[in-house]
Amino acid sequence: MKATVFGTGYVGLVQGTILADAGHEVVCVDVDADKLAQLEQGIIPIYEPGLEALVKANLAAGRLCFTTDAALGVAHGEVQFIAVGTPPDEDGSADLQYVLKVAQTIAEHMSAPRIIVNKSTVPVGTADRVGQCVGEVLAKRGRDDLTFDVVSNPEFLKEGSAVADCQKPDRIIIGTENPESVEVLRELYAPFNRNHEKMIVMDVRSAELTKYAANCMLATKISFMNEMANLAERLGADIEAVRQGIGADPRIGYHFIYPGVGYGGSCFPKDVQALIRTAEEIDFDARVLKAVEARNAQQKTTLFHKIQRHFRGELSGKTFALWGLAFKPNTDDMREAPSRVLMEALWQAGARVQAYDPEAMEEAQRLYGSRDDLALCGTKEAALRGADALVIVTEWKSFRAPDFALIAQQLSEPVIFDGRNLYSPERMAIKGFTYYSVGRQA
Ligand code: UGA
Repeated sequence: MKATVFGTGYVGLVQGTILADAGHEVVCVDVDADKLAQLEQGIIPIYEPGLEALVKANLAAGRLCFTTDAALGVAHGEVQFIAVGTPPDEDGSADLQYVLKVAQTIAEHMSAPRIIVNKSTVPVGTADRVGQCVGEVLAKRGRDDLTFDVVSNPEFLKEGSAVADCQKPDRIIIGTENPESVEVLRELYAPFNRNHEKMIVMDVRSAELTKYAANCMLATKISFMNEMANLAERLGADIEAVRQGIGADPRIGYHFIYPGVGYGGSCFPKDVQALIRTAEEIDFDARVLKAVEARNAQQKTTLFHKIQRHFRGELSGKTFALWGLAFKPNTDDMREAPSRVLMEALWQAGARVQAYDPEAMEEAQRLYGSRDDLALCGTKEAALRGADALVIVTEWKSFRAPDFALIAQQLSEPVIFDGRNLYSPERMAIKGFTYYSVGRQA
């Protein structure tokens, strides 16, 4: 089948590539000509395991192509995906200008029936707005005869495992009341709808809300666990034991109950805020969501407070080794990353940071390269040299079994602040470290 994807960001690029890899003919449209020139050579702008090889293979096979030519894109696909960004507005609500611009573009160029699919995370009611926009442009063109449907088909991929998530989705949500659109999308997704039925068809507003409900539920689990961790610390309990104890109940489960330094990334913070704003617009007080957000903001500051207490508020002139800049492992993404909140607080207090991350060094350079209170180090060992303490913010695999003797030798004092509970407090005590973690006894 022929499909067009507008937007070559995380979602669009992965979606276009896996559809091509499944045998469809895919045209990806973007306004950024430089980015497309890179993509055409198989150079991808994000770190995402497995994606580069797939892009190259499908370019070579002629099933995937990149263009700035929107008219060509609209002419190509019976299905037109909108996968452009929805950045937060100043008040936290999703900014729909890019989504609506694509809708307008599709309407300006279409000359045959089209199924327009919202892949971007968009507030409830957006499909209606897209439909209205397309309808108005078609009317202006005198082409009301052209039929179209706007479908909500939210994406649930995770950064770092995006390819696998897309190729083996646990569900394919289709929001439309048009049975023809359902059948076309069933055919398009047939290569991914194996083993058991994964398509869940519902009305368009429910599909839009499903995406927010999923992310907000996951964010709620994390904030809840962070709250339990803060309580455990103060009550003399161990959150890791509690985590195992509650995860054993299948109604709770082991997933997404890891306490830490707060959730980051481009999705959870943005989506929780956007749903709070959506609720406000209809005069509904989303109390749970507000608490989730407040707990997360507070959680991002907990490591700093522990550091401050340990050094009795005297941080000026101190140097901290920081392991992990990305908001989670297997990505180079630092959007809303807890590392940023921590570094900015340390700098504010007059401290220096020596940082290392396996993938996010370029991104850190882009964000903070001009600062002289930040040294970006080539290895995790180099970050330790002469530092007053080690702080761990992201749970990269390579941080799980480090050379503790070397750490003790390089630091001026053997103290570790671990925001991800990577080590056992008992083992750390035996090794002679002062060890702070999350929700456990120091
Ligand atoms: C998230 C969702 O997991 C995806 O299903 C969704 O498609 C995506 O948002 C999106 O809306 O596009 P992602 O932002 O890539 O994916 O990252 P996650 O793996 O979900 O992690 C989010 C944050 O939660 C990270 O900062 C992570 O460290 C934190 N986290 C996760 C915890 O603190 N504890 C946990 O137990 C799990």
